[in-house]
Amino acid sequence: MMQQCSGDILLCRDPEEVSHRGAELFVRLADEAVSSTDRFTVALSGGSTPRALYALLASDQFREQVPWSKVHLFWGDERCVPPDHPDSNYRMTRETLLEKAPILDENVYRMPAELEDHIRAAAQYEQTLKTFFQVPIGGLPSFDLILLGMGDDGHTASLFPGTAALEETERLVAANYVEKFGTYRLTLTVPLINQAANVAFLITGDSKASVLREVLEGEHQPERFPSQLVRPVKGQLVFIVDRAAANDLTLSFS
Ligand code: 6PG
Repeated sequence: MMQQCSGDILLCRDPEEVSHRGAELFVRLADEAVSSTDRFTVALSGGSTPRALYALLASDQFREQVPWSKVHLFWGDERCVPPDHPDSNYRMTRETLLEKAPILDENVYRMPAELEDHIRAAAQYEQTLKTFFQVPIGGLPSFDLILLGMGDDGHTASLFPGTAALEETERLVAANYVEKFGTYRLTLTVPLINQAANVAFLITGDSKASVLREVLEGEHQPERFPSQLVRPVKGQLVFIVDRAAANDLTLSFS
């Protein structure tokens, strides 16, 4: 484990170990949260990296270790497509986890990203969060865990370089126009992400090596590398990375 800026780095041999360590963290945090609050609130990341983690959590090796009836699943971001679209993060999670683990339907809070009116969709999800977490006016919900990935451009969730959502300081959920895709995405905002008790990045592969060095060791340039915006106010931050993604880091590991 290597201490860096406001987070730890957990160096793993390969993507399999990243998923395994991610599953161990999920189990530990679920146990701790359920012991203290009788629930575990987690926002899931999308993309391809977490597929293996979700499959592992649903596997015989881990499924029985998670108090699924107390788990409340949310998403960190979603593509603005129907829930059965091949690009949907929800669909990916349904195929790898929801259909295989005994999660209660009423505890799955999908982003309504299929709505034509993206602003309304973001506002609707924000209301879902406010209602669930019952935070006082002006307060911010605190997830027990937010899982994140990182793109090779340094984005996380759907907080892409140079996009408007990077500047959002009030809302919990934003409809963010992403020029590079010519589409909108729904995303949790930086203030909400940084309110979490635990934030874990899962990052693998040599395509992430140079941007991970920029994010962790480079100048603070969050417009260029939005993952640098993730600095939990009071929570724990960990980067669970494989050797390929960590290849360009100058840090030495114990
Ligand atoms: C998404 C994700 C996104 C993802 C990164 C990394 O909707 O795509 O939430 O932030 O985590 O793009 O994606 P990979 O894990 O596929 O590299």
